Amino acid sequence: MSASLTDTRSAELYRRALELLPGGVNSPVRAMHSIGREPIFIARGEGAELIDLDGNRFIDYVCSWGPLIHGHAHPHVLAAVAEAAARGTSFGAPTAGEVELACEVARRIEAVEMLRMTSSGTEAAMTAVRLARAATGRETILKFSGAYHGHSDGLLVQAGSGLATQGLPASPGVPEAVAAQTVVVPWNDREALDAAVGLHRPAAIIAEPLPANMGLVPPAEGFLELLRRQADDSGALLILDEVISGFRVAGGGAQELTGVRGDLVVLGKIIGGGLPAAALGGRAELMRMLAPAGEVYQAGTLSGNPLAVAAGLATLELLDEGASARLAAITERLADGLREAARAWGSGGGYPVEVVSMPGLVTVFFSDRPVRSFAEAQACDLHAHAAWCRELLARGVYPPPSQFEAWFPSLAHTDEHLQRTCEAAAAAFACLPEPTGSP
Ligand SMILES: Cc1ncc(COP(=O)(O)O)c(C=O)c1O
Repeated sequence: MSASLTDTRSAELYRRALELLPGGVNSPVRAMHSIGREPIFIARGEGAELIDLDGNRFIDYVCSWGPLIHGHAHPHVLAAVAEAAARGTSFGAPTAGEVELACEVARRIEAVEMLRMTSSGTEAAMTAVRLARAATGRETILKFSGAYHGHSDGLLVQAGSGLATQGLPASPGVPEAVAAQTVVVPWNDREALDAAVGLHRPAAIIAEPLPANMGLVPPAEGFLELLRRQADDSGALLILDEVISGFRVAGGGAQELTGVRGDLVVLGKIIGGGLPAAALGGRAELMRMLAPAGEVYQAGTLSGNPLAVAAGLATLELLDEGASARLAAITERLADGLREAARAWGSGGGYPVEVVSMPGLVTVFFSDRPVRSFAEAQACDLHAHAAWCRELLARGVYPPPSQFEAWFPSLAHTDEHLQRTCEAAAAAFACLPEPTGSP
């Protein structure tokens, strides 16, 4: 590793970037503010490894925040993109690949009968909301605190002060009137959900079926079934946002794992194989409401872009049942190793963390008790988590730089990567001071 953080090429470039890009980056979490350090500028990726501008190598557990399930620069994906690029980068007219990708997605995800591609998950979730409002003739949307569905105004909303209250803007610039059309309910809270649905009769309940944007907080037993039942009984649509979980936790996403199906499904990340693509899918009679089949307007200059479609198809081609089973095994080994690393800390019962995992996703919560909601995730020891992440980076392991994110192990992570990661994790725990106890 380079000796000093202030004289590296990353540091030099960051100073220049700060003058040209707000906060020096093009998406906030990359700035690494929540772990109290500066961003690392990347030169290239190779399989499970990142190489920064200073030549440092890191075992990468961000993997572009999820799309790179086969790791960086996989030859099959690169070849597909190169072939597509040689035929032309964008036409603004339909191509065969889009039909092939829709067919492939519908084959894997049962709830998807038809598909509309977009360039980002934000657009796909925004369109799902518009479609749900058009289909039900209602306006209120119900979402869960700690869930992230992109940054459209109506979904960038935080909980009000009481249960089942209307939402407040989560960012300056989101109009109060727009936020008030979203009701925010604590995840895994059955009573609050019942109350909010009864009171507001929403157009849609939107949820990440396996939330990973407050760290990984799986649903309590029966909670997803309750969402489905509440949507059916109240005439709302259930929008399942599988931007992270889709194709990752199982070939058919969280819906295959849990058996709970959405009326509409939001997909992203893996579907574009590392290029900008996302999609909205669902029941045919709902999807046919989208223009030009129907009257609900939605469009995009680069939607279904041929390079992104080629990368997505190549990524899915490699993602057969065997690959999903391998990813599950890699994840389990990583999660077990991280638990073991925490246990090795100190002379007593180890460092108090909760390691949560689903195939392809891991979160190390700095908490001495299970985390079931955003409020409980926020109560974690964020200072200790930040210090641990900085120590991991100093040892060549690149974790997601926030407590409220999941690690993304990939199929390119070898046993040797996992072993080195767990050794670095143990050494990083050893650097932490005595835990302060539960906050
Ligand atoms: C569950 C979920 N939905 C939607 C989005 C937004 O996707 P994008 O960043 O492509 O706009 C994200 C992004 O991380 C996400 O995790």
